[in-house]
Amino acid sequence: MTFIVTEGCINCKLQDCIEVCPVDCFYEGENFLVIHPDECIDCGVCEPECPEDAIKADTEPGLEKWLEINTRLANIWPNITAQGEPPADAKDWSGRPGKEALLSERPGRGDG
Ligand code: SF4
Ligand code: F3S
Repeated sequence: MTFIVTEGCINCKLQDCIEVCPVDCFYEGENFLVIHPDECIDCGVCEPECPEDAIKADTEPGLEKWLEINTRLANIWPNITAQGEPPADAKDWSGRPGKEALLSERPGRGDG
């Protein structure tokens, strides 16, 4: 299994999760982060850190699409190891449905 980032992160990108990961397996897009499934050691410590409840175990039903998204984008986005500034309008996007269509595949800046 692995942990993965899901829709709730889009446009919120709060980055609390990055700080606790012991293996630095987060990768940064323009408005979203992903976890590299092959690098995640399934420790689970990031899951409760996300205020948007966006981090899930891939064993939860219905997350196949998000596992594919995390796997694909972790291989093309830069690594990020320390929390940066969330988007200025992050609060406006909290809990909003239908964010999946807004997922940008453009890379973020990263710091790895
Ligand atoms: Fe990192 Fe652990 Fe979260 Fe995997 S479960 S992304 S290893 S903090
Ligand atoms: Fe996203 Fe939550 Fe991390 S909003 S950046 S998964 S803390």
